[in-house]
Amino acid sequence: MQVLLLGAGTVTSRLNLQLAEQGHAVVAQIAAFTQQHLDLFDFRAVVVVSPEASTSPESLVQAAERGKLIFVIAGVGDGMSAWANGVGVPALAYPPSEMDVNKLFEEMRRAEAGNLAADEQYRRAVLGSDLSARLQSGMAVRKIAITSPKGGTGKTTVAVNLAVALALSGITTYLVDADGNAGALQYHLRMERVNTTMIGLLRREVAKAGRGVMSDVASGAAYLNAFTALENLPTLRVLPGLITDDLGDEVLQQEDKVSEVIQGLYEAGVAAGGVVIMDVGINPAHVVHRAALKAAEGIAIVIKPEIPDLAETRRWIARMIRSLAHVVGRNSAHEFIGSRVKLCYNQVVGDGFKSAHKLLQQALSEEQIELALIPNGILPIVDPRLAAQAVNSDRREDILVWRYKKEKLEELGPFADALLGFAAHFVPAVREGSARIGLLPNARKKRGWFRR
Ligand SMILES: Nc1ncnc2c1ncn2[C@@H]1O[C@H](COP(=O)(O)OP(=O)(O)OP(=O)(O)O)[C@@H](O)[C@H]1O
Ligand SMILES: [Mg+2]
Repeated sequence: MQVLLLGAGTVTSRLNLQLAEQGHAVVAQIAAFTQQHLDLFDFRAVVVVSPEASTSPESLVQAAERGKLIFVIAGVGDGMSAWANGVGVPALAYPPSEMDVNKLFEEMRRAEAGNLAADEQYRRAVLGSDLSARLQSGMAVRKIAITSPKGGTGKTTVAVNLAVALALSGITTYLVDADGNAGALQYHLRMERVNTTMIGLLRREVAKAGRGVMSDVASGAAYLNAFTALENLPTLRVLPGLITDDLGDEVLQQEDKVSEVIQGLYEAGVAAGGVVIMDVGINPAHVVHRAALKAAEGIAIVIKPEIPDLAETRRWIARMIRSLAHVVGRNSAHEFIGSRVKLCYNQVVGDGFKSAHKLLQQALSEEQIELALIPNGILPIVDPRLAAQAVNSDRREDILVWRYKKEKLEELGPFADALLGFAAHFVPAVREGSARIGLLPNARKKRGWFRR
């Protein structure tokens, strides 16, 4: 493992030799550690010999935010030891006995084998162990499809910002581009190198058919490995989707395989303790979309509060209910849709969405569709310049909520706040997490018209 070793005394020097003997590469041994060293050196883990080094918990949290693993050696009364124990970072006594040093190597081996994950360290370092445990157990809806009955309403914007907001707040989030019309997720996230893509995964699974059944555990691991981790946000993993060239690919003809892969992705992410978000294109009849919608626990419908979107939404819901009613009966179909659909009005100006929502309800009841839909999300329109930078700049951190966390631009506050309100319908504790990392605007808005 590539290690950055912090400390300048005899214990550190001895450890340097021992690390090398164990096959680790010490990229540098430095006495004082600050954020700038994160860009200077390429390493996977930081080993802090606290009494011989100068650094701070804040700098180590920044390292955790960049996916670095942290190991601490500190005296009992040392503040660093209290911090490490408080957030669950492995901490050993100073000066370390031979046994302590062996324990350190053991922890590092566990980390290399994937048993001490960077996302877990990020979560504990930025939230503390108490809140991170609460967040992990308090997820209500873990399989989320984000779709819309019309193009260009903001599906990808909502999917990306929801994923980034959850991930920044400490929740391991698996973001999948499941848009059969080419969703362009990799551009939103500025991904140059990816492990694989949706089409790659489908081809792999189709090729595997007939070569014996893999165990569930092994295939779960294969699905997880398909995701690409972002080096500056260890809690976010992304699977890019189809590009235009893939749209006619014959693997898309094999509906059972497509369905198996989509379900496998949902299951693997949930089994790994995370939330899975799929950006699902328009047209619920597309094989990829059908599979992603069918297996979702929550279906976010992103629309603009405008007549064309409302009309299409009414048709979309009616059609979903009709096609489900064939299989499970009309009442169950209503229940399925009613319990899963979360409406998200996007690009909202003022409170015009209220009359729009009334129109939608009227239209549904004219079709004899009795659904108590409420606007679960009401996302304001943001300055077009910021919206453009969110996808066009060369900085991934310009994604709207990420930018809000970093720069606290006043113009983005209402969007961040509204987005987190929407996110709380899936993960109720997310507001606590986001408040702790400074993602929530301080002046809390009064409770919205429809908020529950
Ligand atoms: N709340 C918002 N405020 C301002 N601009 C927005 C907002 N949400 C989305 N946009 C802009 O609207 C455009 C369409 O957004 P996006 O690509 O997310 O939609 P989509 O539904 O995924 O589209 P497609 O159907 O092509 O996949 C983009 O230019 C995006 O920047
Ligand atoms: Mg899109």
